[in-house]
Amino acid sequence: MRPIRKAVFPVAGMGTRFLPATKAMPKEMLQVVDKPLIQYAVEEAIAAGITDLIFITGRNKRTIEDHFDSSPELEADLACKGKTELLAMVRNILPAHVNCLYIRQSAPLGLGHAVLTAAPAVGNEPFAVLLADDLIDAETPVLKQLIDTAYAQDASVVGVQDVPRQEVSRYGIVATRPLSNRTARITHIIEKPSPEEAPSTLAVVGRYVLEAEIFDHLRATLFGTGNEIQLTDGIASMLSQRTVLAHRYEGQRYDCGSKAGMFQATVALGRKYHGLIPEPDTGG
Ligand code: UTP
Repeated sequence: MRPIRKAVFPVAGMGTRFLPATKAMPKEMLQVVDKPLIQYAVEEAIAAGITDLIFITGRNKRTIEDHFDSSPELEADLACKGKTELLAMVRNILPAHVNCLYIRQSAPLGLGHAVLTAAPAVGNEPFAVLLADDLIDAETPVLKQLIDTAYAQDASVVGVQDVPRQEVSRYGIVATRPLSNRTARITHIIEKPSPEEAPSTLAVVGRYVLEAEIFDHLRATLFGTGNEIQLTDGIASMLSQRTVLAHRYEGQRYDCGSKAGMFQATVALGRKYHGLIPEPDTGG
């Protein structure tokens, strides 16, 4: 497999579950403790060796561009006040070897459409997709776990997690043939099935390593569930021609597309990395 250098960040969703917070601000700029969601995802990608970041943006996405751009006024002010640690922090949000590209999605026509919008920038190489609202706290960045599997097996890989059966209708669900402890070959994938029709409880989460062939399949995919182009349908179409693997990643995921997940992430990361909330006193 060719080197995986590019990552696509679809950030053009409407974020309706967080209204009114997302009325004028993208969901991906909502913060967990002291960083916006998108920065967690970008840091994970860079830690996995990604050098080219491709953001698929929609309306109200200017703040994302500003966040990853230099900020001369702020930097001058911090320098002037001798706040060297803060200055280093804002300067190092992106390492110098990393490039950003922003492409506007013409309309919010679904995750598959957002990924297809990246096709001209990705070209003919394998690439990653990260959904910033899935924040995954892991010792080895989850994208690195997927990329290692993609190289080892020479195939596309999606991150999966076991979920309670009553929750399957919120996810893409896969049927698989096991290959090793954490990796299996996907035989079937279905978007948001009912608990009765779900072929398993293995849910696709927001981490993907995809071969460029996905673009042909997305183009050919008719508008699926809810008049949008679903990435799941593109992957389903690709299964007949290419191997796509499901990798059960190691890590703790927080569904920061929901208020409950966002709240849990804030408490867990605040406690683990910032000493903000004392562990509950269990008595004795
Ligand atoms: P969601 O299904 O979470 O939708 O998108 P959403 O609009 O962001 O949020 P809600 O459900 O209205 O609250 C999953 C991911 O796909 C991106 C979103 O930005 C999010 O990262 N997406 C979705 C796009 O980039 N374009 C789209 O047309 C749809």
